[in-house]
Amino acid sequence: MADDPLLEVRDLRVTYRTRDGEIPAARGVSFDVRAGEILAIVGESASGKSTVGHAILDLLPQATSTMSGTVRWRGRDLATLSTDELRRLRGREVAVIFQDALAALTPTMTIGEQLAEVFRVHLEVGQDEARVRAREALLNVMPNADRVLDAHPFQLSGGMAQRVMVAMATALQPKMLIADEPTANLDPAVRQETLEWLEGIRDAGGAVLLITHDFGVVARLADRVAVMYAGKLVETADVRTAFRSPKHPYTYGLLQSLPQFAEGGRLRAMPGQPPDLSTLPPECPFLPRCNKAIAVCRTEPAPPLLEMDDAPDHLAACFNPMAVGLRD
Ligand SMILES: Nc1ncnc2c1ncn2[C@@H]1O[C@H](COP(=O)(O)OP(=O)(O)OP(=O)(O)O)[C@@H](O)[C@H]1O
Ligand SMILES: [Mg+2]
Repeated sequence: MADDPLLEVRDLRVTYRTRDGEIPAARGVSFDVRAGEILAIVGESASGKSTVGHAILDLLPQATSTMSGTVRWRGRDLATLSTDELRRLRGREVAVIFQDALAALTPTMTIGEQLAEVFRVHLEVGQDEARVRAREALLNVMPNADRVLDAHPFQLSGGMAQRVMVAMATALQPKMLIADEPTANLDPAVRQETLEWLEGIRDAGGAVLLITHDFGVVARLADRVAVMYAGKLVETADVRTAFRSPKHPYTYGLLQSLPQFAEGGRLRAMPGQPPDLSTLPPECPFLPRCNKAIAVCRTEPAPPLLEMDDAPDHLAACFNPMAVGLRD
């Protein structure tokens, strides 16, 4: 069917093993991304956003993490793909812009060599054409492309590396893009172009999973929002609904800390800190920061995502959702 999701993620769980113990960074995350939409995953640092982005394409560190759950791309369970099939899918159909662009580049190869290699494999062109395409792709995002082609990753700044990622992903013309903080290190002009490019993917019938903690970017680009806290989605809604009538006190708190949404125009930092994932309490992990908590919040685990009655597909994992809305 035309509106079947491109990407379906179900009950995704990821645990990292570290010297300090196990860190459950994704604790049963489910969502869909449909063709023609940008879904933004938002949340504070260490809530598990990048973990979800990596897990989708099986890019987690194999030796130190375990993953369970189902990821389907156009109806196909990715766990059934061979290594080769998965490699082809990555890049050509689903491209990723990593949050840490520098670390994602191969340190021993020049930028030109690795761009050309990616294009040779995914676009199935010869060496020479791959090199020409690499140069063209870089020229789109930076004036001094020739110098960067010959550079090794350690010679690049974070912003430069991010542009290389954008150049690579753009040239591959993926059906879907997973963009993890794609504009974090970019100067305003390239940032603007990158945002327009993400919109272009959506408008051409593709899809974007946008991972960010920048609500400005969310407001401008996203069609739907999924708010993540301590490894779980706590609220999902279309972007207008999420901004107007957030139901989870965490979403409300995040929006309150933004100048344009704060009641009375006052900027308030959200009090408290996210919990330590290695020692999560059985009850709602937002409890210590929540001023809406009721008795059940202290005795029961947080509920699953529940339907809210104000808009279709508005879900929140809260026993006592917010009743008042915020201004537009
Ligand atoms: N490779 C890893 N090994 C061990 N722990 C990890 C690893 N990657 C992430 N973590 C831990 O998992 C948790 C979630 O991290 P993740 O990077 O997914 O968060 P995030 O929401 O993307 O944060 P940020 O906004 O800072 O990018 C954190 O506690 C982090 O320290
Ligand atoms: Mg991250």
